Amino acid sequence: MTLFGDFLRNDHRRSHKWHQYFPVYERHLERFRNRHVTLMEVGLGEGGSLEMWKRYLGPFVRIVGIDIEPLCMRLEEQQIHIRIGSQDDTTLLARVLDEFGPPDIFIDDGSHIQQHINTTFDFMYQHVAKNGVYIVEDLHAAYWPNHGAGPSHPESFIERAKGFVDEMHAQYIGHGTGRTPLGDRTTSIHFYDSITVFEVGEYRPQAHSIQGDPLLFEIAAAPGMPSLAVTPDPVPTPAQQGAWEAAEALRRELALLRASTSWKVTAPLRAAKRLFR
Ligand SMILES: C[S@@+](CC[C@H](N)C(=O)[O-])C[C@H]1O[C@@H](n2cnc3c(N)ncnc32)[C@H](O)[C@@H]1O
Repeated sequence: MTLFGDFLRNDHRRSHKWHQYFPVYERHLERFRNRHVTLMEVGLGEGGSLEMWKRYLGPFVRIVGIDIEPLCMRLEEQQIHIRIGSQDDTTLLARVLDEFGPPDIFIDDGSHIQQHINTTFDFMYQHVAKNGVYIVEDLHAAYWPNHGAGPSHPESFIERAKGFVDEMHAQYIGHGTGRTPLGDRTTSIHFYDSITVFEVGEYRPQAHSIQGDPLLFEIAAAPGMPSLAVTPDPVPTPAQQGAWEAAEALRRELALLRASTSWKVTAPLRAAKRLFR
C-alpha cells in the first residue's frame, strides 16, 4: 500500500495533511524503512502523523515528537517519545538531542510561524545525521503576513532557502571563499508545493572529467561514413542492416588500430593537435 493509501484508510488518530506531500515523503523517506533510524517531528496535532510514520517506517524506527501542547504527552506509546515545549526553545531542542542523539529525519510541522521555523532550522539542521533529511511543511505560510513573513520577506523560510541554494554552490564561487557549514553539508534542496526538503551529506570537492574516444565523433562526421549511432531495428531494412554492419566493421577496425603500437606511439601528437584546435 502507498503511504497515501495508508493515510486515506486511517481510522485511528487523526492527521491533517496536504495530499501533494505523499509522493514527496515516499521519494525522500523510502530508504529509511525497516532501519534503525530516529525521526523527530515538531507539531503533533492529535498524533495521526506519529502513528503514520511508525506504520510506514516499521519496527526499528524511534520517533520523537515535540509539541507545545502538554496534552500531547498522551501520544506516547511503544517507539514514540514525546517532549513538551516550543520549537523555538533551543534549550529544549538541545536536551532532546542529548537524550536521543542526532535525528536521521527531522520534520517541522509545528506553528508555521516563520521565525519559529528559522530558529528550529538554524539550531537543528547542523545536527541532522549525514545521509539524513530535513523537511519543512506548510510553507505556503511563508507568504502570509499573519505567519511572520510574505513574498520576498527576509524572514520567509522560502526566501532564506533560496539563499541556501547559493550556499550549496559556494565551492564554485570565488574559489570557494564563501563556503558555509550549511552549504557544505547540503547535497540537495527540493522545493515542492508548500514543502521543502534538504538532503544532508558532507563536503566533497566535486570532480569532473571527459570520458570516451573523440575519434569516434571525428570519423563519424567524415563525408560518406555511416552514422555510428545507427542501431538495428527489431526488423531492420536491408539499408539499415548494411549501415549497421558498416558501422560495426568501422568499430572493429578502430579497436584494432587503437591497439596497434604506432597508434599508441602517436597518441601524444594527436592529443596535442586536439588541444591546439
Ligand atoms: C498542524 S498541527 C500538526 C499536525 C500533525 N503533524 C499531523 O500531521 O497530524 C500543528 C501542531 O503544532 C503545535 N505547535 C504550535 N506552536 C508550536 C510551537 N511553538 N512549538 C511546538 N509545537 C507547536 C500545535 O500544538 C499543533 O499540535
